[in-house]
Amino acid sequence: MDNHPDGKTMNSIAFSKYGSPDVLKKTSVSYPHGFDTRSNVVIKVHASAINPVDKGLLSGDYKMVIPVAAFPHVISYDVAGVVEEADLEGKFSVGQPVFARLFGSPKDGKKTPWYRGAMAEYCVADTSNVVLKPENLTFEEAASIPLVGLTALQVLKSSRLKEGDSIFISGGAGGVGTMAIQLAKHVFKAKLVVTTASEGEKADLCKNLGADVVLDYKTTNFEEVYGGDSGEKFDVCFDTTNESLGMANIVKEGGRIVTIAGMSTLEELRRIGGTAWILKLFVKRRMKRKEYKAARSKNADWNYQFLSPSQADLTTLANHLESGMIKPVLDGVWDFHSDEEESGWKGAFNRSFSGRAKGKCVVKFEQ
Ligand SMILES: NC(=O)c1ccc[n+]([C@@H]2O[C@H](COP(=O)([O-])OP(=O)(O)OC[C@H]3O[C@@H](n4cnc5c(N)ncnc54)[C@H](OP(=O)(O)O)[C@@H]3O)[C@@H](O)[C@H]2O)c1
Repeated sequence: MDNHPDGKTMNSIAFSKYGSPDVLKKTSVSYPHGFDTRSNVVIKVHASAINPVDKGLLSGDYKMVIPVAAFPHVISYDVAGVVEEADLEGKFSVGQPVFARLFGSPKDGKKTPWYRGAMAEYCVADTSNVVLKPENLTFEEAASIPLVGLTALQVLKSSRLKEGDSIFISGGAGGVGTMAIQLAKHVFKAKLVVTTASEGEKADLCKNLGADVVLDYKTTNFEEVYGGDSGEKFDVCFDTTNESLGMANIVKEGGRIVTIAGMSTLEELRRIGGTAWILKLFVKRRMKRKEYKAARSKNADWNYQFLSPSQADLTTLANHLESGMIKPVLDGVWDFHSDEEESGWKGAFNRSFSGRAKGKCVVKFEQ
């Protein structure tokens, strides 16, 4: 582990080897140093959110695509906090409340050598990923937004959803689904938003967010409801649950299916700059995928999509949050300073990694 020149350390949630969530530990790591101070800020972390990608990273499943630069690796990509050290280019100043999805350092094309995640007392963010926190949001709420908000917004943009369209969103109660429903209904002005969630509080949540119809995925197959000649068909299908094959039966002619779940395509891996040759042996070209063929047989399009760094898109989300068009959805907030299984930071990871959360699981650092 590289040491700070003055020996400064900070507390973090990190892992020193790949494995189950048990390998995540409260770990003392060096305070940020050695990064490009012209274009990066140090953020004093007030809150950080957990995503399914963290579980994949921790398990080693993603090491071909997103290798860990060095152990111990501080986990998490989502942060809200206050600028502790401003960038020398002067885009941000000390004390500003900000939020960000950490993407490493896109300017020099590689991760800064010290690069680590957001679940620490301090983290470093390239200014091109940082946006002022919406004033009406708490830090915990703001931290819940970047990864899922960017994903939902970018998929809806690329799917060319427009006012009056109909959209089917699978997994409406998840982090991405809760953002996608609100954006589709209130920002893109979709006429019909149909989603899937388990009945009870998750279905109620989806309706409150703007879904017109919620199918209980445990008892109802969406293809049986909307497939066939008489069923309603959708301009756009947004897949967050790896069910995009069946969506070929419910998409309109000329419609679009976009998935963010399951295996990427070679084209999308190339677009995000993925070089892992082993993965490329397994990842098929878009046109060879059965999902693509099924969609084309209905004269519809099919794509896999990764989220991309975009300060402009995060600014758009901040504006929609500030105007109240969309709102954060938190499953719960857990305490970084407590090691207690339920209420402490471990509880947040257990809940998020269970795949059962509604909205986001957030860890708070400040009282
Ligand atoms: N490509 C990208 O750039 C990108 C970006 C973000 C996320 N993702 C991927 O997108 C997926 C969703 O992410 P997320 O953050 O939204 O996950 P999440 O928040 O962990 O999703 C959990 C929710 O999904 C519900 N759910 C699980 N299976 C379902 C099903 N078959 N039908 C309907 N609801 C279901 C669960 O409800 P129940 O408890 O009722 O089952 C729970 O409420 C993950 O696979 C993630 O890795 C990809």
